[in-house]
Amino acid sequence: MTSWLKAIHIISLVIWCAGLLVLPGLYAQKARVKEKEALYHLQSFTRFAYTSIISPSAFIAVGTGMTLIFVREVFTVWMAMKLAAVGALVLLHVHAGHVIVRVFRPEGRFSTWREHAAAFATLATISAILWLVLAKPLLDVTILPEWMRRPGGLQSFSESMRPI
Ligand code: HEM
Repeated sequence: MTSWLKAIHIISLVIWCAGLLVLPGLYAQKARVKEKEALYHLQSFTRFAYTSIISPSAFIAVGTGMTLIFVREVFTVWMAMKLAAVGALVLLHVHAGHVIVRVFRPEGRFSTWREHAAAFATLATISAILWLVLAKPLLDVTILPEWMRRPGGLQSFSESMRPI
């Protein structure tokens, strides 16, 4: 059961990550495509990839990952840090959705430097996640702030942030 779950986790995250890395190249194609019909195909392919392949894979990767935490009882500091890095990947995923909407408007553009920056940020986040999960570094829980280690800590932290 665990090996099946892990296999599904890995297959889905490979599709998710590969998709996020390919997307910036697809938006950047918009500047190179001149014909109306080709532009329409590029737009529908990009939207199809995002909504029907990449996003469902992300849901499956996160769902199987969450299940694995409880099945394998991985309640460790490196897993908490991996989840923070996955949070960053989810933000990049949501940002990609916004870019798809904006870039295919008539005035929409996606410059080469943005293509490289988006691909680099995605690659750096994926590398950090892979390092954490494969190296499983033995991190001491004391590296986390005190409020994160105490039950009810989030509430007292948010109260201390409230303006007087
Ligand atoms: C919310 C999202 C995620 C959760 C909750 C999650 C959780 C987990 C858990 C609990 C394991 C099993 C660890 C073990 O048995 O030692 C695992 C394995 C793994 N995860 Fe994730 N994961 C998530 C997303 C990702 C992402 C985005 C990547 C890659 C970019 C990734 C890469 C891996 C790899 C490579 C393994 C296999 C590690 C091994 O067998 O040593 N995970 N994940």
